[in-house]
Amino acid sequence: MGENSQLPMPASVVPTNRPYVRNRFVYGTVLVLVALQFLYSHHALTIGHTSSVPIHAENTLARCRALDTVPGPSSHFYSRASSDRYVPGTRATLVLDARIWTGGQNGTEIIEGHVYFDKGIFKGVGSLDVNAIKMLHSRDSLDIVDAKGAWVTPGIVDAHSHLGVLAAPSLSGANDGNSHNGPILPWLRSLDGLNTHDESYPLSIAGGVTTALILPGSANAIGGQAFTIKLRKTAERSPTAMLLEPPYQLNGTYPASGVVPWRQMKHACGENPSRVYRATRMDTFWAFRQAYDRARQIKKEQDAYCEQAFSGRWSDLGEFPEDLQWEALVDVLRGRVKVQTHCYEAVDLDDLIRLSNEFKFSIAAVHHAHEAYLVPDVLKRAYGPPPAAAIFATHARYKREAYRGSEFAPRILAENGIKVVLKSDHPVSNSRFLLFDAQQAHYYGLPENLALGAVTTQPAQVVGLDYRIGFIREGWDADLVIWDSHPLALGATPTQVYIDGIAQIEFPHVVEKPNSLQSVPKVPNFDSEAARAVEYEGLPPLLPNESYIGDVLFKNVKNLFLPGADGDRIQDAFTTQGIHSGVVMVLNGIVACFGPENSCSLDEFTDSHAPLRTIDLKGGSISPTLVSYGSSLGLSEIQGEISTGDGTVFDPLVAPASSAAEQVLVRAVDGLQFSGRNALLAYHAGVSRAFTAPSHSGFIGGLGVEFSLGAGHKLEKGAVHQDVTALHLSMVHGTRQPSVSTQIAALRQWLFAAHTHGEHGEISARFVDIVQGRIPLVIETHSVDVIATLIELKREFEARTGRPLRLTIAGATEAHLLASELAEAGVGVVLTRARPFPGTWEQRRILPGPPLSEDSAILRLMTHGVTVGVGVDEPSSAAATRFDLGWIALESGGHISKPEAIALASTNLKKLLGNVHKGPTDLVATQGGDLLSFESKVVAVISSVRGTVDLF
Ligand SMILES: *[C@@H]1O[C@H](CO)[C@@H](O)[C@H](O)[C@H]1NC(C)=O
Ligand SMILES: *[C@@H]1O[C@H](CO)[C@@H](O)[C@H](O)[C@H]1NC(C)=O
Ligand SMILES: *[C@@H]1O[C@H](CO)[C@@H](O)[C@H](O)[C@H]1NC(C)=O
Repeated sequence: MGENSQLPMPASVVPTNRPYVRNRFVYGTVLVLVALQFLYSHHALTIGHTSSVPIHAENTLARCRALDTVPGPSSHFYSRASSDRYVPGTRATLVLDARIWTGGQNGTEIIEGHVYFDKGIFKGVGSLDVNAIKMLHSRDSLDIVDAKGAWVTPGIVDAHSHLGVLAAPSLSGANDGNSHNGPILPWLRSLDGLNTHDESYPLSIAGGVTTALILPGSANAIGGQAFTIKLRKTAERSPTAMLLEPPYQLNGTYPASGVVPWRQMKHACGENPSRVYRATRMDTFWAFRQAYDRARQIKKEQDAYCEQAFSGRWSDLGEFPEDLQWEALVDVLRGRVKVQTHCYEAVDLDDLIRLSNEFKFSIAAVHHAHEAYLVPDVLKRAYGPPPAAAIFATHARYKREAYRGSEFAPRILAENGIKVVLKSDHPVSNSRFLLFDAQQAHYYGLPENLALGAVTTQPAQVVGLDYRIGFIREGWDADLVIWDSHPLALGATPTQVYIDGIAQIEFPHVVEKPNSLQSVPKVPNFDSEAARAVEYEGLPPLLPNESYIGDVLFKNVKNLFLPGADGDRIQDAFTTQGIHSGVVMVLNGIVACFGPENSCSLDEFTDSHAPLRTIDLKGGSISPTLVSYGSSLGLSEIQGEISTGDGTVFDPLVAPASSAAEQVLVRAVDGLQFSGRNALLAYHAGVSRAFTAPSHSGFIGGLGVEFSLGAGHKLEKGAVHQDVTALHLSMVHGTRQPSVSTQIAALRQWLFAAHTHGEHGEISARFVDIVQGRIPLVIETHSVDVIATLIELKREFEARTGRPLRLTIAGATEAHLLASELAEAGVGVVLTRARPFPGTWEQRRILPGPPLSEDSAILRLMTHGVTVGVGVDEPSSAAATRFDLGWIALESGGHISKPEAIALASTNLKKLLGNVHKGPTDLVATQGGDLLSFESKVVAVISSVRGTVDLF
């Protein structure tokens, strides 16, 4: 508390229109003030115009003075001996021998040394007198942790989260993210809906997240007030106890001390408020202007009132003008609120900046902001400092506003002097893996200091709390993560996380990581791709530069992975050691020769019809391309825009159509569209094919297809690999879904009817294909109980008919609980999330993986002998498949080799989802490293079917 703060100060001392200054000059006037106060409180003093001073004048004046208080810490904040969040009994901790990324010096400061924290705050960083610290504590009041040179960072700060307000598992009773009660709701508070039982808290902490800004949703132009919380459990078990620096207004009090914390307010432009209120952008911005005009009027009345009070003209002054509904918005105009705005497109950003200048308030960050990198100068025109851009690293194109999103946006924004924050929008993306966004932004060109800053120091600043979180510095909150590798290395995982000095993971499972991961990955150069993203306003052409027909010699190849002779198991054909390198000769899209440097003689292979190309892979590799499954790739370009896709299949169990229609099974091949941006971006990342089921929200999906992501249209050679791959059904709870038992009953009937009666119409014809083993039956489900029922049905079918049933479970979040039963029943599993999240009730029993469990679900299933595939759950994730696989291999602690990891999203998927899995395989060539690493760049895709090498 400011010492001077309790003193009511007459108008002659504190001018009205200047910020209330706390400085020594003011302290020096204390004596004078005490004298004045004495006179004042005895109604003896009149100033200026003569009028009598009312009884509550002191309160009124204090209130008026408080209006100009600038948010931030008190002047003596850093002399605090303990944190307000300190939990008595917490032991002090001394972390020895760490590589400390402090957040200081623009994210470039790295200190090798120790970190000491006590009473919830950092008390020493760097070279410390360890013995002196030990002397300070008795044996059991100090934990000593030997970090053995491990990387340590401040806790991750997530500047955009709905943790607790959109709680997991998602249930209708815990959906408090969005009010639909009007476009302008500055009086709502996310805190009022904060669920303390969200299963995400411990999971996000296990990813290193210690603090999050909990925002209301984006259904409204002004959605309400946001609050910053620490994620740890509290003794009180209440939402209030989680708050970090709660604003005073929360309990209807006003700052008496001259010190106020920042408040937070959610705004949203564009599609979301338009959709909910059937409005246009014009309506939304008028709603904003009307609201701000109301706030401006109240502010004006308050200022006039205070001016009059300060000058002692008390007569006719009446009550202080205020309105509980508008007070938060008035505070925005007083510069005391961090305005966090969901705002995507150039038009929206321009509107928002115009609004900020019209009403003179600054904006802390534009969130999502997929077009911000195209209009950095617009942000620089904002009232006050330019807003930061709080964005996703790669998640894009899910709606029209996000269509021009680019993986190069973080680096382009940084190059233009805009601060970059990476955020989760949890549960939209799982904040447990927010660091993966920093890693990917770094991969695509954001400098390492800014990439780590984008999830620590920058978000701390954007929420106005960088004076206590976001750094490892003496006096800051003891929120700290110890990592098992360099935090920008793929798969970096905490070995321990501290919040307010309290260790959060009781029994961390730590996987040994190779030494090569202890330094920053040497990422490839994407300068020309980034320049093209801007040149083409987010839509650079993505078709390969050239489809080369002819012979190609790849040199400087470090390793070559190829499917075995049975087209099945992927093998390490060669891996060179040290400085040696190999060559691979490709003729007509087929590997004709490979080996050490001079093994393939050019004369022997060069064809006369085309010149020989030589491509230097600079220590890169050649491996089978990847396959994608689980999203709507090929059937929809922008998920939020129906007109850009095939549409959704009707479910005959819910809406029985005419008997003819009832017999129809939809084929995904009939709805395919080629050259979509998600498809081509995946192709650029070594994913050459996808298996896609018809888009459906009901029980019956239809017949899947396997197609090429690099093809221009369906009639191109090799565009469609299998026009019918499998029959896809879904047993997940949806709003329109019949009961699971109804679905099982239908399935049982179809299976046995196909066995005994043969074909009647298409559904039974396809079941005949299934029972005769021609195509697999792929059932999407997550629940262990449904999976158990399906295993039983398979047993029943096989016992009664003597035929094997090819069954694959897709989704399969809880499948790890039946690993041995699945293996015994010969049922394969495709996990459509490489890393699990308990998003729904049916997915709640996840196996979280390190550091929370020793195994991942994938490893558990594989060690029991289940054939496992890995998919993706949304189209823009397909391009990151190679990193998902690299992560799986690293996390397995040596149990899953790179070829086995590649098989998870190539040969295994073909086996589990298709009909002919032994066909020709495409290959992908990477420069600088292998496909699964952050050091490589995809330079070519080799297609044996087309006899081409596509060059990027
Ligand atoms: C911070 O680092 C970035 C990237 O390394 C650099 O471009 C920028 O100029 C630095 N900013 C300051 C203030 O040093
Ligand atoms: C109201 O909230 C402020 C800020 O958290 C706190 O300091 C104050 O003690 C609270 N007052 C009451 C009456 O609860
Ligand atoms: C592909 O074309 C782009 C733009 O013309 C160019 O920057 C890039 O270097 C080309 N890549 C190859 C492999 O030729």
